[in-house]
Amino acid sequence: MKLSNLSKSNTLLETICDFLNYECGLKVTEAIIDEVLKYIKKNYFLDQLPYNDLINYLKKNLINSVLINETYFFRNPEQLDAIIDYYNKFLKNKKLKILSFGCSSGEECYSLAIKFFLENIDNYEIVGIDIDNEALEIAKKGEYTENSFRNNVMLLKNFFKRINDKYVIKDIYKKNITFLNINLLKENALKYFDKHHFDVILINNVLIYLDEKAISIILKQLNNLLSKQGILLTTKEESFLIEKAHIFKKDPYNDIIYKKILFEDILQKEFRELYYIKAENDEQDANKIYEISNKYKNETIEKLREYIKITQNKNEVLAISYRIFEKTLNAEDLKNFINLLINENYYHEAHKWLKTYLMIINPTEKDLNDYIKLCIKTKNYDDLIPILKKKIELYNNKKDILLLKTILGHINEQ
Ligand SMILES: C[S@@+](CC[C@H](N)C(=O)[O-])C[C@H]1O[C@@H](n2cnc3c(N)ncnc32)[C@H](O)[C@@H]1O
Repeated sequence: MKLSNLSKSNTLLETICDFLNYECGLKVTEAIIDEVLKYIKKNYFLDQLPYNDLINYLKKNLINSVLINETYFFRNPEQLDAIIDYYNKFLKNKKLKILSFGCSSGEECYSLAIKFFLENIDNYEIVGIDIDNEALEIAKKGEYTENSFRNNVMLLKNFFKRINDKYVIKDIYKKNITFLNINLLKENALKYFDKHHFDVILINNVLIYLDEKAISIILKQLNNLLSKQGILLTTKEESFLIEKAHIFKKDPYNDIIYKKILFEDILQKEFRELYYIKAENDEQDANKIYEISNKYKNETIEKLREYIKITQNKNEVLAISYRIFEKTLNAEDLKNFINLLINENYYHEAHKWLKTYLMIINPTEKDLNDYIKLCIKTKNYDDLIPILKKKIELYNNKKDILLLKTILGHINEQ
């Protein structure tokens, strides 16, 4: 049946597709419709069930039948190498915490455990999450058929026991793994784990089946679970979906690795030309300026302007310029003083005066931009938000709206 022919009158088919989308975030493709039609044919009595009974039945039975559980051992060997590399570089001697999201029947988790064994790493914890209960039952038992091995048959001998026609993973590879049935579309992950709990998150062959809304919800949840310096790994096919969410960035050294975009990254990205400067000495420097400026207390403005021309001392220039402003109380002179402060990296001091400046003038777009840049340099996020709001109110610039949304989003998440 073609998606475009999906008849409105076929209410059972529609109900089931809606249920799948609501419950699992599944994109309703033709392949899914085919699966659902097969399912309806097999379970012909569904038509007769009252709505609530139907939904309960689907919750118990449908998800396991329709979701694609395809997986096998050592499916992404380059990811395993990247994790070992990351561990050796950044986490040596610490406990490595890994989440496999959409772990299906557990092959990905056991591949990790085997790899760690081969690399002599034993201080780790792996959590596998899936919404498919039946797949998770297989994972917990660790019982597999040859189909899970593909071209990795050498694994069979060393890490599995043969029991009848099954290959059962040895207990030592099970001991640090937990499998959980959690639906992250419906439940807050922070109910189960601490914020930033995991060092590594794997999300392989899951996003391709989901619609945009579900992807966004899940990636936000995973972003909350990933540690600040943690890594997220995915397949090549899914990487563009990760990038589209704008909350993870590609690692510049290894393009199968993603990292969280941190609050400060966003600010740096938006204002690439700026950099952070330590401002600890600011106050001391400010005192110096006022001290020097006392020397010029009684001079006339003309005299002060003359002095500026001849002195080579930057603090003196600042001090005189401050005196000029004090005598004229004129916006132009204050702006000049502020620019000098910025040029000399006295950001906190500049910040204080910019605030005054904005009160005495009708700020132009450039004035507000200067102030925003300064808030970023001084990491004054309390002032940054109201000033962005003010700028949006006056100039309604899309870039500012986006920046404000991102900042607010990040503040909520951190
Ligand atoms: C194709 S398997 C991938 C298994 C493994 N990650 C791999 O790459 O080999 C996809 C798994 O994602 C699970 N899945 C799909 N949507 C999910 C969701 N919203 N939450 C958790 N698991 C989900 C499915 O149940 C299925 O077991």
